[in-house]
Amino acid sequence: MKVGEIYDLAVSMGMEADPRGLDKVREMLEKEKKKYEEMKEDEKKDFDLESLANPYSDTRILVGEWDREVKRLLVGIDMEVGEVLLADRLSEKGRPVELILSHHPEGKALAALYKVMHLQEDVLAQAGVPINVAEGIMSARIGEVKRTVLPLNHNRAVDAARLLGYALMSVHTPADNLVTSALQKAMDLKKPETVGDVIKVLKEEPEYAEAARLGAGPTVIVGSKERRAGKIMVDMTGGTSGSEDAYGKLAQAGVGTLIVMHMGEKHRKEAEKSHLNVIIAGHMASDSMGMNIFLDRLEANGVEVVPCAGLIRHRRS
Ligand SMILES: [Fe+2]
Ligand SMILES: [Fe+2]
Repeated sequence: MKVGEIYDLAVSMGMEADPRGLDKVREMLEKEKKKYEEMKEDEKKDFDLESLANPYSDTRILVGEWDREVKRLLVGIDMEVGEVLLADRLSEKGRPVELILSHHPEGKALAALYKVMHLQEDVLAQAGVPINVAEGIMSARIGEVKRTVLPLNHNRAVDAARLLGYALMSVHTPADNLVTSALQKAMDLKKPETVGDVIKVLKEEPEYAEAARLGAGPTVIVGSKERRAGKIMVDMTGGTSGSEDAYGKLAQAGVGTLIVMHMGEKHRKEAEKSHLNVIIAGHMASDSMGMNIFLDRLEANGVEVVPCAGLIRHRRS
């Protein structure tokens, strides 16, 4: 496959699995096009034209030609300068790779991470929080994330990849959409009764079973295994953690149990106040599952996948 084809596949799989629904996402791209057309010429200069076809600002080809053929790729959750050097060592040892693929965004995909967070407004609205409240809750948090990523030295891995002649791509929200939709489907189908039963359903996925063996498996951080789960919501996409103000609203809207990748202390305390059950499914395991669903398609197209950097590789097909 070519670098550009891998990228296009990531975007289209992400759109198919988007919690907002494919029609809504297409509608948003149309709105973005109109916004662009109405821009003044000097505003257009800094506009990222990719965002007219790709609704995920954290998913980009960061360096390398789009038509470069990829026979083998090195992929991991975090691909930093160390992993770029690892690619170079592998090449020297006779396993050359053409593309380095990261889940967590690098370069301009990291700088623009905050833009995908608007997805969470629709996710909250779908769970029953009024959209005006959802937008109000998210606005301060999106500003916070924007300011947090602003001073980072976000182009280091991109620079290293360029120097050594590798293509580098980040695929973030599309993969998080894939794991979110797969797990939500499993929960809706199996309807686990208690929080403990939810964990059993999670562990049916090999990534979570493996993470449990590595000491990072699904864990209840609010509530207990014996409690009844109520309405289960998988909350794993939309860039990064949302606002801690959302938990009270979600509980009011009827959510009983949240399944997340990770949660900070500030957020955990707010969730506790609202009597939500919270299960940390596991960060690397969840990110791996999302990436694996995508990587299976690349392998089916003849690309060899070399996992590293925290990726728990498992084939489903
Ligand atoms: Fe992720
Ligand atoms: Fe992550």
